[in-house]
Amino acid sequence: MFKSMYNWIDERLDITPMWRDVADHEVPEHVNPAHHFSAFVYCFGGLTFFITVIQILSGMFLTMYYVPDIINAYASVDYLQHKVAFGVIVRGMHHWGASLVIVMMFLHTLRVFFTGSYKAPREMNWVVGVLIFFVMLGLGFTGYLLPWDNKAYFATQVGIKIAASAPYIGDYIKTFLQGGEIVGAQTLTRFFALHVFFFPGILLALLAGHFFMIRKQGISGPL
Ligand code: HEM
Repeated sequence: MFKSMYNWIDERLDITPMWRDVADHEVPEHVNPAHHFSAFVYCFGGLTFFITVIQILSGMFLTMYYVPDIINAYASVDYLQHKVAFGVIVRGMHHWGASLVIVMMFLHTLRVFFTGSYKAPREMNWVVGVLIFFVMLGLGFTGYLLPWDNKAYFATQVGIKIAASAPYIGDYIKTFLQGGEIVGAQTLTRFFALHVFFFPGILLALLAGHFFMIRKQGISGPL
């Protein structure tokens, strides 16, 4: 049944060449751990992406329960964690994944750096990578406030103070992040919007560019 459905769509949209182009793309020997064990370092980018996908999926489920206002935020997370079926697992995945994805991204960046893969012709992809790096840090920072517990509240206050100490633009960054005189209701709304709309949107656009360039240029050659 699936085959005839596939053929029906293929006749109309000619989809075979699209996925064949990806599926038939050979993995070069020097990035294949089956040939050289040390080539496992080339998996770090893919693993970073894998955790990113988990973050997006688990985050989508978290937003089905999370209430982004200072009266209900903590209680909604508490309810999700203790009352909702599998809530503790989904929240746990998002919580630990948030740290793991930064570690993985860092390892990936080290691999790219030490194999000199940032050099021509891949400079633009390195720059896109640096932007991705900042967006991922932004996701971590804004997500940390959302449970609205003491740790979240005071850590965010420290974070904003650090940003505010930047020369010339510090005050602007503070106003932009805080949204008011203190870390309060407006800050939480702002961080929520940044965490679930702005940063993920920017991240997906940057990742599309990242992967487009990798496909276009191929993986960098052996050392
Ligand atoms: C969410 C974060 C990121 C994801 C999912 C990701 C994903 C990937 C993947 C799958 C590859 C293919 C090769 C490999 O897996 O090692 C790759 C290559 C590359 N990445 Fe990333 N990346 C991320 C962040 C970064 C960062 C932070 C940088 C640098 C600052 C960077 C720079 C590059 C460059 C220059 C290449 C081409 C390397 C080559 O051809 O050898 N990426 N990335």
